[in-house]
Amino acid sequence: MLPIPVVNLPDGTRVPTLGLGTWKMGEQRRRAGDEAAALAHGLDLGMTLIDTAEMYGDGRAEEIVGQAIAGRRGNVFMVSKVYPHNAGRRSAIAACERSLKRLATDRLDLYLLHWRGSIPLAETVAAFEQLRADGKILRWGVSNFDVDDLAELWTLPEGRRCATNQVLYHPGKRGPEWALLPWMRARGMPVMAYSPLGQGALLRQKPLAAIASRLGATPAQVVLAWLLRQGDVMAIPKAADPAHVVANRAACDLELDASALAALDAAFPPPAGATPLAML
Ligand SMILES: NC(=O)c1ccc[n+]([C@@H]2O[C@H](COP(=O)([O-])OP(=O)(O)OC[C@H]3O[C@@H](n4cnc5c(N)ncnc54)[C@H](OP(=O)(O)O)[C@@H]3O)[C@@H](O)[C@H]2O)c1
Repeated sequence: MLPIPVVNLPDGTRVPTLGLGTWKMGEQRRRAGDEAAALAHGLDLGMTLIDTAEMYGDGRAEEIVGQAIAGRRGNVFMVSKVYPHNAGRRSAIAACERSLKRLATDRLDLYLLHWRGSIPLAETVAAFEQLRADGKILRWGVSNFDVDDLAELWTLPEGRRCATNQVLYHPGKRGPEWALLPWMRARGMPVMAYSPLGQGALLRQKPLAAIASRLGATPAQVVLAWLLRQGDVMAIPKAADPAHVVANRAACDLELDASALAALDAAFPPPAGATPLAML
């Protein structure tokens, strides 16, 4: 098994490019134990970046993550997200404290604004900076920000401390390649690709299955290898099935040759122009 490649955040912190998503976890009580076990198995395999949010399962996904990381917090890069309506000067601090409690930890490695709402960005950044000063978060970032949102963030005092932008990105959603990824690359900011497997639907597309079969891999592995080969893209597939966790980890061993990359470009063409950032 090859090691999971790492990416440097703007502050120099090294983070594995393959992590674990948690959306839809915590929604059914009877599945909670299996979901925590799947996450723990992913940690065993080195996928130590875990993405969650106060929104997921109404806080119960964070509790499941708390169970999965028990006794091994030091080896985990913990990401959570604040709802836009909780992203005010005081409300973001209270929301973060609730997340920390559910996660049974004293700090987040990364705290993201889940998407942009009506609270002024300057207020959210001020709250994030307060949380950072207090040691409750080590760094912060955003999610679902298009270029104009990031450009506005860049004008704010401390706005350039943004560590990453988590966006919808996979072969079927290549819009970010037109302007967003180049903008972020020019500023040394890696992207975090959410729903990297297209929530499963992408994996059923016939051209992808043909490419995977020629490589002796699965469609999910091809998609993850395609994202990770870029070097500055983190991917956070969600897998509650332990066999999926193992298969996803093995994507790091898959090299896509020129003909596989050309076939992927033919089946999932890069953008031919600017499109608004897609989000779920
Ligand atoms: N910032 C945002 O607005 C935002 C939005 C969406 C998602 N996210 C984050 O990104 C994470 C990932 O996105 P997602 O959960 O929407 O979708 P996803 O990771 O693209 O897909 C998850 C689905 O794929 C299945 N799967 C996983 N590995 C597989 C494999 N090797 N073979 C076949 N099927 C496989 C999972 O099944 P099983 O669970 O049964 O294994 C699940 O049904 C989320 O969990 C969340 O942490 C963030």
